Amino acid sequence: MIPIILHLEKSNYTAPVKKIDCFDILEGFHHEIRDALVPFSQAISTLQHSRKWQPLIYTVIQNFKSFHEAEVAAHTRDEEIAFYPIIGVRWRESKTFDTIHAPTEYMLREHTDIASHIHAIGLLSEMLQQQPANKLALEALLGEAQAVLMILPLHMQKEEQFLFPQARKLLPKEDVETATTLIQQLHSK
Ligand SMILES: [Fe+2]
Ligand SMILES: [Fe+2]
Repeated sequence: MIPIILHLEKSNYTAPVKKIDCFDILEGFHHEIRDALVPFSQAISTLQHSRKWQPLIYTVIQNFKSFHEAEVAAHTRDEEIAFYPIIGVRWRESKTFDTIHAPTEYMLREHTDIASHIHAIGLLSEMLQQQPANKLALEALLGEAQAVLMILPLHMQKEEQFLFPQARKLLPKEDVETATTLIQQLHSK
């Protein structure tokens, strides 16, 4: 009898590999955003309880701001170029939503809102670095940070639990391929 291991070695069997598509790429990036949100959220919580500015908090906030400006901005650009316009066409064709309730516009507005909150957080943290006793700047920063910590996770949750599953059902294979290629091209530049 041929040992099973020898038998397997002789066969040319290769396990089928699932091709990565646009949804895998977009959802994969959400994991990175969630990871980056952890130290940011901890720093904000420390600040909220102590109401005392510390240089370490400045470093964490500036790291998150840099991550947002480089990585999150690239992710939202991917969605704005390769996801929302494509699914928007299919939503209109299928009359899934009336024009007022189509989610595209408010989802894109959330991208802009999050970016402007992050910009304000960057400016306020620089101000606090110069003036650690500035209570007004501290309260404003906490307000901006709480907005990000509420909007950003909810935004990703809406995409993962509602928009991407619906797009997986609605988009023809060619659209998924087009979106995937577009995202890959955007990252090869
Ligand atoms: Fe998004
Ligand atoms: Fe997203």
